[in-house]
Amino acid sequence: MKITITPTEKEFDVAAAWRIISQMLCKPDAVIGLSTGQTTMGMHKVVSDIFSQYPFDVSCITLFNVDELTNLPREYPGSCYTMIKTQLADPLGIPEENFIMPPTLSDDFEAECRLFEKRLAERGGADLQMLGIGTNGHIGINQPGTPFESETWVSPMDPDFEARVRRETKVPPETVLGGLTRGISNIMHTKKLILVAKGAHKAEIIAKAILGPVTTDIPASVIQLHPDCEILLDAEAASGITGKI
Ligand code: GLP
Repeated sequence: MKITITPTEKEFDVAAAWRIISQMLCKPDAVIGLSTGQTTMGMHKVVSDIFSQYPFDVSCITLFNVDELTNLPREYPGSCYTMIKTQLADPLGIPEENFIMPPTLSDDFEAECRLFEKRLAERGGADLQMLGIGTNGHIGINQPGTPFESETWVSPMDPDFEARVRRETKVPPETVLGGLTRGISNIMHTKKLILVAKGAHKAEIIAKAILGPVTTDIPASVIQLHPDCEILLDAEAASGITGKI
């Protein structure tokens, strides 16, 4: 496990952006998994800024996101589809056929999960997965307790996050929201993982995930077992591990 710590948030965004860009330049037909949230917005902006100044060939790049919300409109600004489309896919001109996402609405999410994985496998599987981390240690939407052998599935959402989504959408209260997420097994089969975290509020969980035992109580701890994994942190997120590694 390689750990990189940047002094500032700005340098964190730039360092993460270059990892995404270098994957695109090194393998022009790369399959790249992204992650949504506050942590990744800045790095996506840097990627699109660099691309607009120094365009390069992305015609064979495939993008996808590690997870997606279910049972709300895809046009909801908080859907992963819309976030990645506006933050990266559109600025880079990635065509819809090279932006692989499960739907937010379906009568058969089980089949959609299998189809999502099949479409990624047909392109050779994911080369890189950028991963955020929840303050409870979740990766994708795999909450604590998720078995490590889990395959892409629809997980219950974190209650705080669900409350926010409900406030922001007109989804009726009787509609069950969920999080379609690549399973931990699928994430672990990605060729390269980069887990990113910034901010003091992530320091405690980063310390547990990196320095603590590998346990399903902290899903992110499983990445300690991945053969090509980097943890990219700003100084605040790293404050619980500095001096201990
Ligand atoms: C959501 C996403 C996760 C992401 C997490 C981190 O739960 N589904 O994939 O890792 O948010 O979010 P933030 O970067 O806003 O802390």
